[in-house]
Amino acid sequence: MKLAGQFRLPQKFSRRDVLTRFLSFALFVITAATIPLVNSASQSSGVLTGNWAAKIPNADGTVRATYFNLKQDGSRITGSIRVTQFYYLITDGSGGPESFVLNGSMRDGRSERKVRYEGKLVGDELHLTTRRRPEDRPTELVARRAPDGEGALPARIPPPTLHKVRYNGLAKTPPMGWNSWNKFAGRIDDATVRGIADVMASNGMKDAGYLYINIDDTWEGGRDAQGNMLTNKKFPDMKALADYVHRKGLKLGIYSSPGPNTCAGYEGSYGHEEQDARTFAAWGIDYLKYDWCGARTLYTDEEMPAIYQKMGDALLKSGRPIVYSLCQYGRLDVWKWGADVGGNLWRTTGDIRDTWDSMTNIGFKQNELAPYAGPGHWNDPDMLEIGNGGMTDIEYKTHMSLWAMLAAPLLAGNDLRTMSPAILEILTNHDVIAVDQDRLGKQGTLQSKSGDQEIWSRSLSGDAKAIAIFNRGKEEAKVTVPWADLGITAKSKVRDLWLHKAVEVIGSEYSVTIPGHGVVMLRVSP
Ligand code: GLA
Repeated sequence: MKLAGQFRLPQKFSRRDVLTRFLSFALFVITAATIPLVNSASQSSGVLTGNWAAKIPNADGTVRATYFNLKQDGSRITGSIRVTQFYYLITDGSGGPESFVLNGSMRDGRSERKVRYEGKLVGDELHLTTRRRPEDRPTELVARRAPDGEGALPARIPPPTLHKVRYNGLAKTPPMGWNSWNKFAGRIDDATVRGIADVMASNGMKDAGYLYINIDDTWEGGRDAQGNMLTNKKFPDMKALADYVHRKGLKLGIYSSPGPNTCAGYEGSYGHEEQDARTFAAWGIDYLKYDWCGARTLYTDEEMPAIYQKMGDALLKSGRPIVYSLCQYGRLDVWKWGADVGGNLWRTTGDIRDTWDSMTNIGFKQNELAPYAGPGHWNDPDMLEIGNGGMTDIEYKTHMSLWAMLAAPLLAGNDLRTMSPAILEILTNHDVIAVDQDRLGKQGTLQSKSGDQEIWSRSLSGDAKAIAIFNRGKEEAKVTVPWADLGITAKSKVRDLWLHKAVEVIGSEYSVTIPGHGVVMLRVSP
Protein backbone atom coordinates (compact mmCIF):
# COMPACT_ATOMS: atom_id res chain seq x y z
CA MET A 1 0.00 0.00 0.00
CA LYS A 2 1.59 3.21 -1.18
CA LEU A 3 0.60 5.45 1.66
CA ALA A 4 1.38 3.02 4.36
CA GLY A 5 4.73 2.56 2.82
CA GLN A 6 5.61 6.17 3.57
CA PHE A 7 5.37 5.49 7.30
CA ARG A 8 7.94 3.47 9.05
CA LEU A 9 6.32 1.42 11.66
CA PRO A 10 8.44 0.71 14.72
CA GLN A 11 9.50 -2.86 14.52
CA LYS A 12 8.02 -3.83 17.86
CA PHE A 13 4.43 -3.20 16.64
CA SER A 14 2.61 -6.01 15.03
CA ARG A 15 -0.04 -5.43 12.35
CA ARG A 16 -2.66 -6.25 14.97
CA ASP A 17 -1.24 -3.59 17.28
CA VAL A 18 -1.42 -1.07 14.51
CA LEU A 19 -5.03 -1.88 13.84
CA THR A 20 -5.88 -1.66 17.51
CA ARG A 21 -4.00 1.63 17.89
CA PHE A 22 -5.68 3.02 14.77
CA LEU A 23 -9.09 2.06 16.02
CA SER A 24 -8.46 3.58 19.44
CA PHE A 25 -7.19 6.74 17.80
CA ALA A 26 -10.26 6.87 15.61
CA LEU A 27 -12.41 6.34 18.68
CA PHE A 28 -10.55 9.13 20.46
CA VAL A 29 -11.07 11.48 17.52
CA ILE A 30 -14.75 10.65 17.37
CA THR A 31 -15.08 10.98 21.12
CA ALA A 32 -13.11 14.21 21.24
CA ALA A 33 -15.20 15.65 18.49
CA THR A 34 -18.34 14.54 20.23
CA ILE A 35 -17.47 15.65 23.76
CA PRO A 36 -18.36 19.28 23.25
CA LEU A 37 -21.67 18.15 21.82
CA VAL A 38 -22.30 15.64 24.55
CA ASN A 39 -21.19 18.18 27.11
CA SER A 40 -23.30 20.92 25.72
CA ALA A 41 -26.14 18.45 25.50
CA SER A 42 -25.70 17.49 29.10
CA GLN A 43 -25.22 21.11 30.10
CA SER A 44 -27.91 22.77 28.04
CA SER A 45 -29.85 20.33 25.93
CA GLY A 46 -30.27 16.94 27.52
CA VAL A 47 -32.54 14.48 25.84
CA LEU A 48 -35.49 15.73 27.90
CA THR A 49 -35.14 19.20 26.40
CA GLY A 50 -38.06 20.11 24.18
CA ASN A 51 -41.79 20.65 24.08
CA TRP A 52 -43.86 17.66 25.15
CA ALA A 53 -47.63 17.31 25.13
CA ALA A 54 -49.89 14.82 26.88
CA LYS A 55 -53.19 14.93 25.02
CA ILE A 56 -56.41 13.31 26.16
CA PRO A 57 -59.29 13.61 23.70
CA ASN A 58 -62.60 14.86 25.11
CA ALA A 59 -65.75 13.24 23.71
CA ASP A 60 -66.76 16.64 22.29
CA GLY A 61 -63.90 16.63 19.76
CA THR A 62 -61.64 18.92 21.80
CA VAL A 63 -58.44 17.81 23.46
CA ARG A 64 -57.36 18.20 27.06
CA ALA A 65 -53.64 18.88 26.91
CA THR A 66 -50.81 19.19 29.41
CA TYR A 67 -47.60 20.69 28.02
CA PHE A 68 -44.11 20.21 29.41
CA ASN A 69 -41.65 22.71 27.98
CA LEU A 70 -38.39 21.38 29.34
CA LYS A 71 -34.75 22.35 29.30
CA GLN A 72 -32.43 19.76 30.74
CA ASP A 73 -28.96 20.93 31.88
CA GLY A 74 -27.23 17.87 33.24
CA SER A 75 -29.44 16.81 36.09
CA ARG A 76 -31.17 20.16 36.34
CA ILE A 77 -34.49 20.65 34.56
CA THR A 78 -36.07 24.06 34.07
CA GLY A 79 -38.94 25.31 31.93
CA SER A 80 -42.70 25.40 32.30
CA ILE A 81 -45.74 23.17 32.60
CA ARG A 82 -49.12 24.12 31.26
CA VAL A 83 -52.13 22.24 32.60
CA THR A 84 -55.21 23.43 30.68
CA GLN A 85 -55.37 27.10 31.71
CA PHE A 86 -52.67 26.96 34.40
CA TYR A 87 -49.11 27.93 33.47
CA TYR A 88 -46.55 26.78 36.04
CA LEU A 89 -42.89 27.64 36.14
CA ILE A 90 -40.67 24.71 37.05
CA THR A 91 -39.09 25.89 40.27
CA ASP A 92 -37.40 22.65 41.15
CA GLY A 93 -36.76 20.07 38.44
CA SER A 94 -34.09 17.41 38.49
CA GLY A 95 -33.07 14.01 37.20
CA GLY A 96 -32.54 12.52 33.79
CA PRO A 97 -34.20 10.26 31.26
CA GLU A 98 -34.31 7.32 33.68
CA SER A 99 -36.10 9.26 36.36
CA PHE A 100 -36.95 12.90 36.88
CA VAL A 101 -39.08 15.10 39.11
CA LEU A 102 -40.70 18.40 38.15
CA ASN A 103 -42.08 20.78 40.75
CA GLY A 104 -44.05 23.69 39.30
CA SER A 105 -45.50 26.77 40.90
CA MET A 106 -47.69 29.65 39.79
CA ARG A 107 -49.03 32.79 41.41
CA ASP A 108 -52.78 32.96 41.56
CA GLY A 109 -53.81 36.32 42.91
CA ARG A 110 -52.38 36.33 46.38
CA SER A 111 -51.98 32.59 46.64
CA GLU A 112 -49.66 30.04 45.07
CA ARG A 113 -50.59 26.93 43.12
CA LYS A 114 -48.25 23.99 42.84
CA VAL A 115 -47.89 20.85 40.73
CA ARG A 116 -45.49 17.93 40.93
CA TYR A 117 -44.75 15.35 38.25
CA GLU A 118 -42.50 12.32 38.37
CA GLY A 119 -41.45 10.70 35.12
CA LYS A 120 -39.04 8.87 32.89
CA LEU A 121 -38.27 8.68 29.19
CA VAL A 122 -39.56 5.48 27.59
CA GLY A 123 -38.59 5.26 23.91
CA ASP A 124 -39.64 8.66 22.62
CA GLU A 125 -42.38 9.21 25.21
CA LEU A 126 -42.38 10.75 28.65
CA HIS A 127 -44.27 8.58 31.09
CA LEU A 128 -45.41 10.78 33.97
CA THR A 129 -47.43 10.54 37.13
CA THR A 130 -48.94 13.29 39.25
CA ARG A 131 -51.16 13.51 42.32
CA ARG A 132 -53.42 16.33 43.44
CA ARG A 133 -52.61 15.59 47.05
CA PRO A 134 -49.89 13.27 48.34
CA GLU A 135 -52.52 10.81 49.60
CA ASP A 136 -54.28 10.57 46.20
CA ARG A 137 -53.73 7.76 43.71
CA PRO A 138 -51.39 8.94 40.96
CA THR A 139 -52.74 10.02 37.59
CA GLU A 140 -50.69 8.70 34.68
CA LEU A 141 -49.84 10.70 31.59
CA VAL A 142 -47.95 9.98 28.39
CA ALA A 143 -46.39 13.00 26.68
CA ARG A 144 -45.01 13.05 23.15
CA ARG A 145 -42.86 15.63 21.42
CA ALA A 146 -44.91 18.60 20.19
CA PRO A 147 -43.91 21.41 17.83
CA ASP A 148 -42.10 24.32 19.47
CA GLY A 149 -44.50 26.99 20.60
CA GLU A 150 -47.55 24.73 20.74
CA GLY A 151 -49.35 25.30 24.02
CA ALA A 152 -47.12 28.27 24.89
CA LEU A 153 -48.47 31.22 26.80
CA PRO A 154 -49.36 33.88 24.22
CA ALA A 155 -47.67 37.26 24.35
CA ARG A 156 -49.19 39.63 26.85
CA ILE A 157 -51.45 42.30 25.35
CA PRO A 158 -51.11 45.41 27.52
CA PRO A 159 -54.36 46.30 29.30
CA PRO A 160 -56.22 49.34 27.91
CA THR A 161 -56.48 52.56 29.90
CA LEU A 162 -59.57 52.77 32.04
CA HIS A 163 -62.71 54.63 31.12
CA LYS A 164 -66.30 54.25 32.22
CA VAL A 165 -68.34 51.86 30.11
CA ARG A 166 -71.88 53.08 29.39
CA TYR A 167 -74.68 51.17 31.18
CA ASN A 168 -76.38 48.78 28.76
CA GLY A 169 -79.82 49.34 30.30
CA LEU A 170 -80.26 45.65 31.21
CA ALA A 171 -80.88 43.70 34.42
CA LYS A 172 -83.02 46.35 36.11
CA THR A 173 -83.85 43.54 38.52
CA PRO A 174 -81.52 40.62 39.36
CA PRO A 175 -81.31 38.20 36.41
CA MET A 176 -83.37 35.03 36.73
CA GLY A 177 -82.89 31.82 34.82
CA TRP A 178 -80.85 28.66 34.82
CA ASN A 179 -77.17 27.80 34.42
CA SER A 180 -75.70 24.46 33.41
CA TRP A 181 -72.58 24.30 35.60
CA ASN A 182 -73.74 23.21 39.07
CA LYS A 183 -75.50 20.10 37.80
CA PHE A 184 -73.93 19.27 34.44
CA ALA A 185 -70.42 20.81 34.42
CA GLY A 186 -68.73 19.36 31.29
CA ARG A 187 -71.70 17.15 30.40
CA ILE A 188 -73.88 19.95 29.06
CA ASP A 189 -74.93 19.67 25.42
CA ASP A 190 -77.46 20.97 22.90
CA ALA A 191 -80.11 18.34 23.65
CA THR A 192 -79.95 18.99 27.38
CA VAL A 193 -80.24 22.76 26.90
CA ARG A 194 -83.31 22.26 24.69
CA GLY A 195 -84.82 19.90 27.24
CA ILE A 196 -84.25 22.40 30.03
CA ALA A 197 -85.76 25.20 27.90
CA ASP A 198 -88.84 23.07 27.16
CA VAL A 199 -89.41 22.45 30.85
CA MET A 200 -88.63 25.99 32.01
CA ALA A 201 -91.11 27.37 29.48
CA SER A 202 -93.90 25.07 30.60
CA ASN A 203 -93.53 24.19 34.29
CA GLY A 204 -94.38 27.60 35.71
CA MET A 205 -90.81 28.85 36.03
CA LYS A 206 -91.04 31.13 33.01
CA ASP A 207 -94.25 32.61 34.41
CA ALA A 208 -92.47 33.10 37.73
CA GLY A 209 -89.78 35.18 35.99
CA TYR A 210 -87.06 32.71 35.02
CA LEU A 211 -85.79 33.87 31.64
CA TYR A 212 -82.17 33.06 30.86
CA ILE A 213 -80.91 29.61 29.91
CA ASN A 214 -77.15 29.94 30.43
CA ILE A 215 -74.62 27.54 28.97
CA ASP A 216 -71.53 27.55 31.17
CA ASP A 217 -68.04 26.27 30.32
CA THR A 218 -67.25 23.44 27.83
CA TRP A 219 -69.27 24.51 24.77
CA GLU A 220 -66.17 25.94 23.01
CA GLY A 221 -64.47 24.27 20.09
CA GLY A 222 -61.47 26.39 19.11
CA ARG A 223 -61.08 28.85 16.23
CA ASP A 224 -61.26 28.75 12.45
CA ALA A 225 -58.56 30.19 10.18
CA GLN A 226 -60.07 33.68 10.54
CA GLY A 227 -59.99 33.40 14.29
CA ASN A 228 -63.74 32.96 14.69
CA MET A 229 -64.76 31.07 17.80
CA LEU A 230 -66.21 27.64 17.05
CA THR A 231 -68.46 25.38 19.07
CA ASN A 232 -67.51 21.78 19.81
CA LYS A 233 -69.46 18.63 18.85
CA LYS A 234 -71.82 18.99 21.81
CA PHE A 235 -73.23 22.19 20.27
CA PRO A 236 -73.50 21.62 16.52
CA ASP A 237 -75.34 24.88 15.79
CA MET A 238 -75.45 27.63 18.41
CA LYS A 239 -77.56 29.95 16.27
CA ALA A 240 -80.19 27.24 15.82
CA LEU A 241 -80.12 26.59 19.56
CA ALA A 242 -80.61 30.30 20.32
CA ASP A 243 -83.52 30.40 17.86
CA TYR A 244 -85.06 27.41 19.61
CA VAL A 245 -84.70 28.99 23.04
CA HIS A 246 -86.05 32.32 21.75
CA ARG A 247 -89.09 30.60 20.25
CA LYS A 248 -89.90 29.42 23.79
CA GLY A 249 -89.93 33.05 24.92
CA LEU A 250 -86.64 32.55 26.76
CA LYS A 251 -83.13 33.95 26.33
CA LEU A 252 -79.81 32.20 25.82
CA GLY A 253 -76.61 32.85 27.75
CA ILE A 254 -73.07 31.73 27.12
CA TYR A 255 -69.69 31.67 28.87
CA SER A 256 -66.13 32.70 28.07
CA SER A 257 -62.90 33.90 29.66
CA PRO A 258 -60.68 36.97 29.18
CA GLY A 259 -57.76 34.54 29.20
CA PRO A 260 -56.51 32.24 26.43
CA ASN A 261 -58.35 29.39 28.15
CA THR A 262 -61.40 28.90 30.31
CA CYS A 263 -61.39 27.24 33.71
CA ALA A 264 -62.05 23.87 32.12
CA GLY A 265 -59.21 24.48 29.65
CA TYR A 266 -61.37 25.36 26.62
CA GLU A 267 -60.83 28.25 24.21
CA GLY A 268 -61.07 31.70 25.83
CA SER A 269 -61.62 35.13 24.27
CA TYR A 270 -58.10 36.47 24.81
CA GLY A 271 -57.15 38.78 21.95
CA HIS A 272 -60.51 38.10 20.24
CA GLU A 273 -62.82 40.14 22.46
CA GLU A 274 -64.56 42.17 19.75
CA GLN A 275 -64.66 39.26 17.34
CA ASP A 276 -66.22 36.98 19.95
CA ALA A 277 -68.75 39.62 21.01
CA ARG A 278 -69.77 39.88 17.34
CA THR A 279 -70.01 36.09 17.08
CA PHE A 280 -72.14 35.88 20.24
CA ALA A 281 -74.40 38.65 18.93
CA ALA A 282 -74.72 36.91 15.56
CA TRP A 283 -75.71 33.67 17.26
CA GLY A 284 -78.37 35.55 19.25
CA ILE A 285 -76.75 35.33 22.66
CA ASP A 286 -78.38 37.43 25.39
CA TYR A 287 -76.07 36.95 28.39
CA LEU A 288 -72.33 36.43 28.85
CA LYS A 289 -70.61 35.07 31.95
CA TYR A 290 -66.97 36.08 31.67
CA ASP A 291 -64.73 34.03 33.92
CA TRP A 292 -61.26 35.24 34.93
CA CYS A 293 -59.58 31.80 35.10
CA GLY A 294 -57.13 31.64 32.19
CA ALA A 295 -56.31 35.36 32.45
CA ARG A 296 -54.53 34.94 35.76
CA THR A 297 -51.16 34.07 34.25
CA LEU A 298 -51.09 37.14 32.02
CA TYR A 299 -52.57 39.76 34.32
CA THR A 300 -52.49 40.78 37.95
CA ASP A 301 -55.65 41.24 39.95
CA GLU A 302 -55.09 45.00 39.78
CA GLU A 303 -55.44 44.78 36.00
CA MET A 304 -58.84 43.09 36.17
CA PRO A 305 -60.92 46.25 35.66
CA ALA A 306 -59.13 47.11 32.41
CA ILE A 307 -59.45 43.55 31.13
CA TYR A 308 -63.16 43.34 32.00
CA GLN A 309 -63.70 46.76 30.45
CA LYS A 310 -62.45 45.35 27.13
CA MET A 311 -65.32 42.89 26.90
CA GLY A 312 -67.74 45.47 28.32
CA ASP A 313 -66.86 47.74 25.40
CA ALA A 314 -66.97 44.87 22.92
CA LEU A 315 -70.46 43.78 24.00
CA LEU A 316 -71.80 47.32 23.63
CA LYS A 317 -70.17 47.61 20.24
CA SER A 318 -71.79 44.35 19.10
CA GLY A 319 -75.09 46.21 19.10
CA ARG A 320 -77.01 43.38 20.80
CA PRO A 321 -78.31 43.77 24.35
CA ILE A 322 -76.21 41.23 26.27
CA VAL A 323 -76.24 40.98 30.05
CA TYR A 324 -72.63 41.09 31.25
CA SER A 325 -71.79 38.85 34.21
CA LEU A 326 -68.32 39.17 35.72
CA CYS A 327 -66.95 36.05 37.33
CA GLN A 328 -63.72 36.65 39.21
CA TYR A 329 -64.68 35.31 42.60
CA GLY A 330 -65.03 38.68 44.29
CA ARG A 331 -61.37 39.57 44.02
CA LEU A 332 -60.11 43.14 44.13
CA ASP A 333 -63.42 44.30 45.68
CA VAL A 334 -65.16 43.91 42.32
CA TRP A 335 -68.33 45.50 43.75
CA LYS A 336 -66.47 48.82 43.73
CA TRP A 337 -65.71 48.78 39.98
CA GLY A 338 -67.90 46.10 38.38
CA ALA A 339 -70.52 48.58 37.17
CA ASP A 340 -67.88 50.95 35.74
CA VAL A 341 -66.59 48.30 33.36
CA GLY A 342 -70.11 47.53 32.14
CA GLY A 343 -70.91 44.63 34.47
CA ASN A 344 -74.55 43.94 35.32
CA LEU A 345 -73.55 41.50 38.02
CA TRP A 346 -70.35 40.26 39.56
CA ARG A 347 -69.50 37.18 41.55
CA THR A 348 -68.66 38.08 45.13
CA THR A 349 -67.26 34.70 46.18
CA GLY A 350 -65.58 31.48 45.11
CA ASP A 351 -67.67 28.63 43.74
CA ILE A 352 -70.71 27.50 45.67
CA ARG A 353 -71.14 23.81 46.49
CA ASP A 354 -74.31 21.92 47.27
CA THR A 355 -73.80 21.87 51.04
CA TRP A 356 -75.30 23.79 53.93
CA ASP A 357 -71.86 25.06 54.97
CA SER A 358 -70.88 26.30 51.53
CA MET A 359 -74.24 27.98 50.92
CA THR A 360 -74.43 29.68 54.33
CA ASN A 361 -70.75 30.66 54.41
CA ILE A 362 -71.38 32.53 51.19
CA GLY A 363 -74.87 33.84 51.79
CA PHE A 364 -74.51 35.18 55.32
CA LYS A 365 -71.26 36.96 54.44
CA GLN A 366 -72.83 39.36 51.93
CA ASN A 367 -74.01 41.93 54.47
CA GLU A 368 -71.38 44.56 53.84
CA LEU A 369 -71.83 44.49 50.09
CA ALA A 370 -75.41 45.77 50.24
CA PRO A 371 -74.55 49.39 49.29
CA TYR A 372 -73.11 48.24 45.96
CA ALA A 373 -76.24 46.55 44.60
CA GLY A 374 -78.93 48.38 42.68
CA PRO A 375 -80.92 48.30 39.45
CA GLY A 376 -78.61 47.32 36.61
CA HIS A 377 -75.77 46.00 38.76
CA TRP A 378 -75.92 43.22 41.34
CA ASN A 379 -73.77 41.32 43.77
CA ASP A 380 -73.74 37.68 42.69
CA PRO A 381 -73.18 35.16 45.50
CA ASP A 382 -73.23 32.40 42.82
CA MET A 383 -75.86 30.17 41.33
CA LEU A 384 -78.52 28.25 43.21
CA GLU A 385 -77.94 24.68 44.33
CA ILE A 386 -81.63 24.14 45.08
CA GLY A 387 -82.66 20.64 44.04
CA ASN A 388 -79.19 19.19 43.58
CA GLY A 389 -79.60 16.84 46.50
CA GLY A 390 -76.94 17.96 48.98
CA MET A 391 -79.32 19.86 51.28
CA THR A 392 -82.77 19.24 52.71
CA ASP A 393 -85.84 21.00 51.38
CA ILE A 394 -85.85 23.14 54.54
CA GLU A 395 -82.27 24.20 53.78
CA TYR A 396 -83.14 24.90 50.16
CA LYS A 397 -85.97 27.19 51.36
CA THR A 398 -83.37 29.02 53.43
CA HIS A 399 -81.13 29.23 50.36
CA MET A 400 -83.96 30.70 48.28
CA SER A 401 -84.98 33.14 51.03
CA LEU A 402 -81.43 34.33 51.67
CA TRP A 403 -80.75 34.91 47.98
CA ALA A 404 -84.02 36.85 47.72
CA MET A 405 -83.09 39.00 50.72
CA LEU A 406 -79.72 39.66 49.04
CA ALA A 407 -81.31 40.77 45.75
CA ALA A 408 -79.15 38.05 44.24
CA PRO A 409 -79.50 36.67 40.72
CA LEU A 410 -81.74 33.59 40.82
CA LEU A 411 -80.09 31.14 38.47
CA ALA A 412 -81.35 27.65 39.15
CA GLY A 413 -78.57 25.10 38.89
CA ASN A 414 -80.43 21.78 39.00
CA ASP A 415 -81.90 19.40 36.45
CA LEU A 416 -85.28 21.02 35.88
CA ARG A 417 -86.47 17.95 33.95
CA THR A 418 -86.38 15.62 36.92
CA MET A 419 -86.90 17.80 40.00
CA SER A 420 -89.50 16.99 42.63
CA PRO A 421 -92.70 19.06 42.96
CA ALA A 422 -91.35 20.31 46.31
CA ILE A 423 -88.23 21.73 44.64
CA LEU A 424 -90.30 23.33 41.88
CA GLU A 425 -92.46 24.89 44.55
CA ILE A 426 -89.40 26.37 46.28
CA LEU A 427 -88.02 27.76 43.02
CA THR A 428 -91.36 29.25 42.00
CA ASN A 429 -92.48 30.79 45.27
CA HIS A 430 -93.97 33.97 43.81
CA ASP A 431 -93.95 35.79 47.13
CA VAL A 432 -90.25 35.18 47.70
CA ILE A 433 -89.41 35.95 44.07
CA ALA A 434 -91.28 39.25 44.39
CA VAL A 435 -88.88 40.19 47.19
CA ASP A 436 -85.86 39.25 45.08
CA GLN A 437 -87.20 41.16 42.08
CA ASP A 438 -88.39 44.24 43.94
CA ARG A 439 -87.88 47.21 41.66
CA LEU A 440 -86.17 49.36 44.30
CA GLY A 441 -83.27 46.96 44.06
CA LYS A 442 -82.12 47.47 47.65
CA GLN A 443 -80.13 44.56 48.99
CA GLY A 444 -81.15 43.37 52.45
CA THR A 445 -78.93 43.55 55.52
CA LEU A 446 -78.49 41.90 58.85
CA GLN A 447 -80.60 43.66 61.42
CA SER A 448 -79.84 41.65 64.53
CA LYS A 449 -78.29 38.43 65.64
CA SER A 450 -78.80 36.33 68.70
CA GLY A 451 -76.92 33.06 68.89
CA ASP A 452 -77.84 31.03 65.83
CA GLN A 453 -80.74 33.28 64.91
CA GLU A 454 -80.35 36.17 62.52
CA ILE A 455 -82.94 38.70 61.48
CA TRP A 456 -82.40 40.28 58.08
CA SER A 457 -84.50 43.00 56.56
CA ARG A 458 -84.85 44.46 53.13
CA SER A 459 -86.60 47.67 52.07
CA LEU A 460 -89.10 47.17 49.28
CA SER A 461 -90.95 49.55 47.03
CA GLY A 462 -94.23 50.99 48.31
CA ASP A 463 -92.77 51.51 51.78
CA ALA A 464 -92.91 47.78 52.32
CA LYS A 465 -90.18 45.56 53.65
CA ALA A 466 -89.17 41.96 53.82
CA ILE A 467 -88.02 40.35 57.04
CA ALA A 468 -86.32 36.99 57.21
CA ILE A 469 -85.67 35.24 60.49
CA PHE A 470 -83.05 32.57 59.94
CA ASN A 471 -82.29 29.74 62.31
CA ARG A 472 -78.74 28.74 61.48
CA GLY A 473 -78.67 26.20 64.31
CA LYS A 474 -79.33 22.50 63.82
CA GLU A 475 -82.10 22.39 66.41
CA GLU A 476 -85.58 23.81 66.18
CA ALA A 477 -85.77 27.23 67.84
CA LYS A 478 -88.56 29.27 69.27
CA VAL A 479 -88.00 32.91 68.40
CA THR A 480 -89.84 35.69 70.14
CA VAL A 481 -89.37 39.27 68.98
CA PRO A 482 -91.27 42.41 69.96
CA TRP A 483 -93.31 43.56 66.95
CA ALA A 484 -91.77 46.98 67.43
CA ASP A 485 -88.27 45.54 66.90
CA LEU A 486 -89.42 44.32 63.51
CA GLY A 487 -90.86 47.75 62.71
CA ILE A 488 -94.35 46.27 62.76
CA THR A 489 -97.33 48.13 64.21
CA ALA A 490 -100.94 47.09 64.68
CA LYS A 491 -101.65 48.81 61.37
CA SER A 492 -99.09 46.83 59.39
CA LYS A 493 -100.13 44.16 56.95
CA VAL A 494 -97.90 41.12 57.50
CA ARG A 495 -97.71 38.09 55.24
CA ASP A 496 -95.79 34.85 55.78
CA LEU A 497 -94.13 34.21 52.41
CA TRP A 498 -93.68 30.45 52.80
CA LEU A 499 -97.06 29.72 54.38
CA HIS A 500 -98.66 32.19 51.95
CA LYS A 501 -100.97 33.59 54.55
CA ALA A 502 -101.52 36.68 56.63
CA VAL A 503 -99.90 36.93 60.03
CA GLU A 504 -102.05 38.57 62.68
CA VAL A 505 -100.38 41.28 64.69
CA ILE A 506 -101.67 40.54 68.18
CA GLY A 507 -100.05 41.16 71.51
CA SER A 508 -96.69 42.86 71.78
CA GLU A 509 -94.47 40.15 70.35
CA TYR A 510 -94.12 37.91 67.38
CA SER A 511 -93.48 34.35 68.41
CA VAL A 512 -92.59 31.62 65.98
CA THR A 513 -90.97 28.17 65.96
CA ILE A 514 -88.39 27.68 63.24
CA PRO A 515 -86.97 24.27 62.33
CA GLY A 516 -83.20 23.70 62.41
CA HIS A 517 -81.59 25.41 59.38
CA GLY A 518 -84.99 26.91 58.59
CA VAL A 519 -86.41 30.36 57.96
CA VAL A 520 -89.51 32.46 58.37
CA MET A 521 -89.94 35.14 55.78
CA LEU A 522 -92.40 37.98 56.12
CA ARG A 523 -93.55 40.84 53.97
CA VAL A 524 -94.64 43.90 55.88
CA SER A 525 -96.67 46.58 54.14
CA PRO A 526 -98.03 49.76 55.63
C1 GLA B 1 -65.30 28.67 37.56
C2 GLA B 1 -66.58 29.42 37.86
C3 GLA B 1 -67.73 28.42 37.87
C4 GLA B 1 -67.81 27.73 36.52
C5 GLA B 1 -66.49 27.07 36.18
C6 GLA B 1 -66.46 26.56 34.76
O1 GLA B 1 -64.96 27.78 38.58
O2 GLA B 1 -66.50 30.10 39.08
O3 GLA B 1 -68.94 29.09 38.15
O4 GLA B 1 -68.14 28.69 35.54
O5 GLA B 1 -65.40 27.97 36.33
O6 GLA B 1 -65.23 26.02 34.40
